[in-house]
Amino acid sequence: MNPLPDVQDDPLRDQWSFPPGLSYLNHGSFGPSPRPVRQCRQQWLERMEQNPMRFYTRTLAPALERVQEALGRLLHCHGRDVALMENTTAGVNAVVRSVPLEPGDRVVTTDQTYGAVLRLLQRECRRRGAELVVVPVPLPLQEPEQITQAVLQAVDRRTRLVLVDHVSSAAALVFPVEEICRRLQDHPTRICIDAAHGLAMRPVDLSTLGCHYYVATCHKWLSAPFTCGLLWVHPRYQGEIQPAVLSWGHTFPGNIRGWVDEFHWRGTYDPSPALCIPEAIHFLEQVGWERFRRHGHHLACLARRQLCKLPGVEPLYPESWECFGTMVTVRIPPGDALTLQRRLGEHHRVEVIVPNWTAERFLRVSCHLYNTEEDIGRLVAALREELGATT
Ligand SMILES: Cc1ncc(COP(=O)(O)O)c(C=O)c1O
Repeated sequence: MNPLPDVQDDPLRDQWSFPPGLSYLNHGSFGPSPRPVRQCRQQWLERMEQNPMRFYTRTLAPALERVQEALGRLLHCHGRDVALMENTTAGVNAVVRSVPLEPGDRVVTTDQTYGAVLRLLQRECRRRGAELVVVPVPLPLQEPEQITQAVLQAVDRRTRLVLVDHVSSAAALVFPVEEICRRLQDHPTRICIDAAHGLAMRPVDLSTLGCHYYVATCHKWLSAPFTCGLLWVHPRYQGEIQPAVLSWGHTFPGNIRGWVDEFHWRGTYDPSPALCIPEAIHFLEQVGWERFRRHGHHLACLARRQLCKLPGVEPLYPESWECFGTMVTVRIPPGDALTLQRRLGEHHRVEVIVPNWTAERFLRVSCHLYNTEEDIGRLVAALREELGATT
């Protein structure tokens, strides 16, 4: 493990490789890794190249087990219950395709669900004759209980799967997943949490949460190298879950570690991103989870307040850690979302996402350790100019 420099209040920008003048406020879409994690990746790639035979047949399996154990400590679960994936997409595909669904069964999700995941649910429900209920989340939101109520009202005795976000993509809204799971604990439905943004942004304890599947991307807030994620499966359902892509899996010689083998031997691939997950955890641990979350939330609050002073810009929920974490979305006046996103990135050198998930237009700001109040100031000035505001 590489030691971190002794920094107190300085943002850790020099641990990343941004060119001067770029305000990168989109860690939520593509989260670049800090230097020690990139160095770790180089070391793993070197080992792979030096002797691929030794690496793939003797080094890889025990190294992946150490990654599972590190994730187990982070998520308060057994490492053996965690499979390593390329991303959340692969994990959610495995879950949705493996849950038994018959004609007349019901799947419940919300209109906040990530578009690609919604597409998967639509296709699988159509294919198997199940009903997909997409619950609208009221926005602007007054309190998280409204989300819980909306989801619970749609769950009936035919419901086999409830799929909700930990933190939603476009609105950056934190879902009260603990409360949803608690209120569904006596219902036979399975619960899958899409934690693409939840991992690292929010503390999680899988030993008490009460869901059956927890799927996350490690190349977002955890800042592991691109193309790694995880799938935690409750032991009750490990026997039936299958990856979307079938390879040698547990039949590969030497694989004796159980259900995860179907996922860990998925054909020849580059496992170096996943092997750096412990280094990414270590990096944030050294900074301090509390400090990381407080810094990002402080900047997200600042962005929300400043942006909402611009004409036509409105908040979507109250200013509270319960409603949003290190990423926040505001509604902005209507217009062409893609053009604005490109103008902000290319002309103003401020990278944010302008999500386009309804007829309205929004702007989402992600704040990581390398961001400063100056980045927020540059974003606000750029948006003011683009909206043609005179104030
Ligand atoms: C809520 C949510 N789910 C799933 C995904 C897909 O993640 P990935 O591209 O890492 O598979 C995203 C990506 O932004 C997301 O925001």
